[in-house]
Order: sequence, then C-alpha cells, then structure tokens
Amino acid sequence: AEVTMDKIVSLCKRRGFIFQSSEIYGGLNGAYDYGPLGVQLKNNIRDFWWKEMTQIHDDIVGLDASILMHPRVWEASGHVSNFSDPMVDCKQCKSRFRADQIDLKGACPTCGTKDSFTEPRNFNLMFATHIGANADASSTIYLRPETAQGIYVDFKNVVSSSRVKIPFGIAQVGKSFRNEITTKNFIFRSCEFEQMEMQWFCKPGTDEKWFSYWREQRMAFYHKMGIKPQSLRWHQHGPDELAFYAKDAYDIQFLFPMGWQELEGVHSRTDYDLTQHQTFSGKEMTYLDPESNERYIPYVVETSAGLTRNVLMALGDAYDEEELEGGDVRTVLHFHPSLAPVTVAVLPLVKKDGIAEFASKLEHELRDDFSTFYDVSGAIGRRYRRMDEIGTPYCVTVDYQSLEDQTVTLRLRDSMEQVRVAITDLVATIKKATKE
Ligand code: GAP
Repeated sequence: AEVTMDKIVSLCKRRGFIFQSSEIYGGLNGAYDYGPLGVQLKNNIRDFWWKEMTQIHDDIVGLDASILMHPRVWEASGHVSNFSDPMVDCKQCKSRFRADQIDLKGACPTCGTKDSFTEPRNFNLMFATHIGANADASSTIYLRPETAQGIYVDFKNVVSSSRVKIPFGIAQVGKSFRNEITTKNFIFRSCEFEQMEMQWFCKPGTDEKWFSYWREQRMAFYHKMGIKPQSLRWHQHGPDELAFYAKDAYDIQFLFPMGWQELEGVHSRTDYDLTQHQTFSGKEMTYLDPESNERYIPYVVETSAGLTRNVLMALGDAYDEEELEGGDVRTVLHFHPSLAPVTVAVLPLVKKDGIAEFASKLEHELRDDFSTFYDVSGAIGRRYRRMDEIGTPYCVTVDYQSLEDQTVTLRLRDSMEQVRVAITDLVATIKKATKE
C-alpha cells in the first residue's frame, strides 16, 4: 500500500510519536512535540550519528555551543544580509507564500482570488529577540538558524584546548530556528528543528579529496542505518543554488511521501567562514601546521543533516501495511533495531500461575542491555500487532513451558518467525540478530 503523509501523521499521533505543538490552544504552525516514542526515536537517531562521527571516525571531537550568540556572528556569516526568502501576501485573504513556489499571476492557492499578490519582498528567516532589560535595537539577538557558526566561532578554543591536528572535525547536534514561510509537510520543514552538523577542517588543496570522502561516508551512513538504498539519491547544486562562497555542494535526497527532497547537505565551504570571523572579530583564525610550520586559514567541508527531518525519513522508510493470510492487514514499522524506540517487549501469555511475575522479572533483567516494554493486557496476537505498529523488533513471550525449562518464545517483527530460546541465550541471540 502507498505510504502517504496522512498515514504517517495519524500513526504518530495515535501511538505517541509526534504531536502538534500547543494543540489544546489550536496549535502553533511549524512547531512539534515529540511524545514518549518520538523522543526515543529521535534520541536513537542522534546517538547513531554521534557514535558514527565521534567514535567510529578518527579525529572528530564534539561541541555543544549556545543557541544565543553575539549578534555580530550573524553579520559575519552573512545571515543578517542574505538569509532571506522572497515572500508575497494575498491581499484578499492575507495568506503568505514563498514567491518562488507559486504562480504570481495565477489564483491564490488559499482563497482562489486572481491577481491578488503583493510585490515580492525579502523576508529574513532569523527569529529576533532581545537580551537584557532594554528592548531596543542594541539588545537585538537571534535564535541561531544553524549550528555551524558555533563551531567556527569556537575553532581556536578547540584547537588550543584539545590535541587535534588538521585534518580534524567538530561535531554538534542541537536546535536551530528559522521563521519559515511555508511549513506544510508535517515535521519536514518546521520553524524549530534540530540539526546534526560536522565541520571538517583541512589544509587548502586537500579539500576536494575530503569533499568526496565525506560524500561517500555520509551516504554509507544511511545505508548502515538500514534506509532503502533506492530511496536515497544525490543532487548536485547548480550555479543558481550554490551559495556564493561555496566551491561545491551536494544534497542527499530521500524519497519522502511528497517526493524527492533534501535530507542532508555536504558542502565545500572553503575558508569563507573562518575568514569572515577573522575580519569581523579581529581575532586570528589561522592554524600553524606543526610539521611544515606553515600558517593558513583551514578550508572546511561541512556535513549538515536535519535530525528532525531524519525522524520523518525513518518513519517514511519503515512504514508498511502488509496483507496477511486471511486478508488481515498489519501496520508495521520496519525500523533498524538500533533506531526502534522499544527493542524488546516481554509478554506473559497469561497473567495467572506465576507467569506474569516470571515475565516481569525477565523484563527487569533485560533492561541493562535493551530498551524494554512489558505488556500484560489483551490477546497475544493483538499485543504483537501493537508492537509491530511502533516498530519493536523483538517480542519475548513467557508461557507455562518457560516455568519448567527456562525457555521463551522469541518472535521476530519482520518475518513474524517464532523461535524457542533458552533464557540464558536470550541477550546474545537478540544482540546477534541486531547486528545481522
Ligand atoms: N549549515 C548549513 C545548513 O544549515 P541547510 O541546507 O540550510 O544547511 C541543513 O540545512 C539541513 O538542515 C537540511 O538538509 C535539512 O535536513 C535541515 N533543515 C534545514 N531547514 C529546516 C527546517 N526548516 N526544518 C527542518 N529541517 C531543516
């Protein structure tokens, strides 16, 4: 069956993955709340990325810079003067659109009125607020629209306080804010979102080699995450899309329910950012190569992924409606076991005769190794379906035989296969299945 955005939105609300922000007040556009399962899924994706970057790769260190930064940062980066979209309003119904996404001579998509648009004007996407007691122009600061600038601004601090040597990277995950004009398509484009960014600092002249290295690594990451390779592709920025300072840029696109769209960008940013910060701050941003004694401003290759957009990808990629024998349909999320909010569900077949107690004790024992869930109510088939729908890869069923011979039934989500496993082998069996 076709995976539509409506089906994903409905599952997310029904099972507690994602809710609209401030729903009881009519909702706030472009903002979302991650429910009990959604926050776990988001954290798992974040941890998967963090481990890949800081643990699997050599020479990448972490950072958590503040969201509020000195306003000069955004002058240096170019965001104050350039970070804007062309916007028009409908004079009739006051709906707001991006000028490049509608036919300005055509009818308003909301109210149908013809020839009703204002002239396009540039609309800066940064959220401004005030710091301190005086709300005047001198106190204006911005909520960061990307995490990257925090990394550039701390470049010298990291070099002088860690043992890093070029080439090396700095990785960061955190919230970013953009006053997006159009926020349809659920969490795809929101005003408050999270990014997972890594800036790789290298010697000028080696940047092309690192650019192709990081492109290859980033695509391999999504394959490792279990995303269907046929739902991922590259898109190279043409001259009209490329930022004026960028040497080259490629997006990894994913086939979302509404079509192919950007998931992550890999950008060759030259020495633009560090040079700008050197000029605006008056502080040197050069690096002294300890081997060659050369001093230079490093070049940067950036990998910039949306974490919340990754959540939408993971849901879209995993969602399936499978027709079973007898005509029944099961909704299932085929998450990679490392991403699933619950890894193992423990289900006592019946409550009585000590089976529930036995199962509950087993569930407690598994907590050290896995994210677990204990469910005692309802027919066993219905309990399996509930776990399929939230993407739980393993269900462990405890029955009368378990009390006698210390074995349980391990039921696999994707194949629905059931195997009998000794409790002493359970952790190893699940870990092995997860790695396969
Ligand atoms: N530092 C470079 C940078 O921020 P970007 O292409 O503007 O580049 C990178 O953003 C990634 O951040 C995008 O590929 C997307 O996944 C995510 N992203 C950007 N704007 C977003 C929004 N409004 N809502 C959700 N994710 C967004």
